[in-house]
Amino acid sequence: MGKTSKDKRDIYYRKAKEEGWRARSAFKLLQIDTECHIFDGVSKAVDLCAAPGSWSQVLARKLNENYKKALEKGDASPPKIVAVDLQAMAPLEGVIQLQGDITNTNTAQQIIAHFDNTQADLVVCDGAPDVTGLHDMDIFIQSQLLLAALNITTHILRPGGTFVAKIFRAKDVSFLYAQLRIFFPYVYCTKPSSSRNSSIEAFVVCKDYSPPKGYKPHMLNPLLTHEPCNFEELTGVNRIIVPFVVCGDLSQPDSDMCYPLNYRGKEYKYHEPVQTPIAPPYAEALSLLENRRAGSSAFVFDHDTDFNEADISRAIENKSATWTASVKEYAFISAVETDSETNTIVKTAQDENKEEETAIDALQNLYISKEAGNIDNTK
Ligand SMILES: C[S@@+](CC[C@H](N)C(=O)[O-])C[C@H]1O[C@@H](n2cnc3c(N)ncnc32)[C@H](O)[C@@H]1O
Repeated sequence: MGKTSKDKRDIYYRKAKEEGWRARSAFKLLQIDTECHIFDGVSKAVDLCAAPGSWSQVLARKLNENYKKALEKGDASPPKIVAVDLQAMAPLEGVIQLQGDITNTNTAQQIIAHFDNTQADLVVCDGAPDVTGLHDMDIFIQSQLLLAALNITTHILRPGGTFVAKIFRAKDVSFLYAQLRIFFPYVYCTKPSSSRNSSIEAFVVCKDYSPPKGYKPHMLNPLLTHEPCNFEELTGVNRIIVPFVVCGDLSQPDSDMCYPLNYRGKEYKYHEPVQTPIAPPYAEALSLLENRRAGSSAFVFDHDTDFNEADISRAIENKSATWTASVKEYAFISAVETDSETNTIVKTAQDENKEEETAIDALQNLYISKEAGNIDNTK
């Protein structure tokens, strides 16, 4: 029963497993392509922040289709895809994989080395930090990933090429748009329908790479200044308003809705995730829960310091054998209320017979409410 809970509440998660994608993110890239045609004529691409690899899967499929079409015309160069992530990624046919930090010069140089004497047609980056819950910090780190991706892009993208990257639509996003417009005459902010409305996530699609005359890419380019700056004062060409494009029409499922399992007349069948992470960051969280269940006095639970809700969410998506008991344990802890002044437990709402599904709901609600910015640190 619990296994179907996430399938019920997240149609894109369910569809991803049915169609063989490693993550629901695949639909975001596919929907962006439907609207913005980012794969047209592409044979060489880089996937930054690629794990677990659903965007790489999309790239592999699209570039192979392009290759077949080009072969028919007799003018084909074989596809090349380089994928990079901090996390280890299970192998994917036709994808060169690197493990490293894209903000690190060494990683950037390794990527660039793969394009010795050649250039990429497309660079995509779905980079997101492990969310800390400190919104300004999370937004800042995400912007650093985008700028690191842009910097790598300036080394390898061919003139006329396309850059697609996740962006958080937050306070100073205009400044990022302005940076992108230095290199690309066309910058769009897109929101695929598979990306939840409640999330500040969007994707910039930047077309026709045209670096300023005389621009020499180098890894030390300080794109983000740390000087205080009032962006509201920017006017004229210095203030860029980029078009906002909604990708995916009304016939596509709404990512914020729950759908019945037998959707549009198709009989529901449960599918395991296509590829579970091979060295997931949440493994530590699960082992902490195991310690707690085993009564280890070494572990004292604290919501905000010992746990990361993104890890919890991933733990739900990638259940291990120890998972159910751990989740039930966590749901009990979640049901404990504390007095915010004295920080003591004032009420426990433990229900011994809590179903697994209720436990999952408790976890997901916690994560969703944090995602939406409704953080109540007293619970
Ligand atoms: C939303 S996931 C990407 C999902 C991927 N596009 C897919 O379709 O499977 C974000 C990824 O960013 C990676 N990441 C975060 N910071 C990074 C960094 N500094 N360097 C490389 N990867 C990073 C994370 O490890 C995580 O795998």
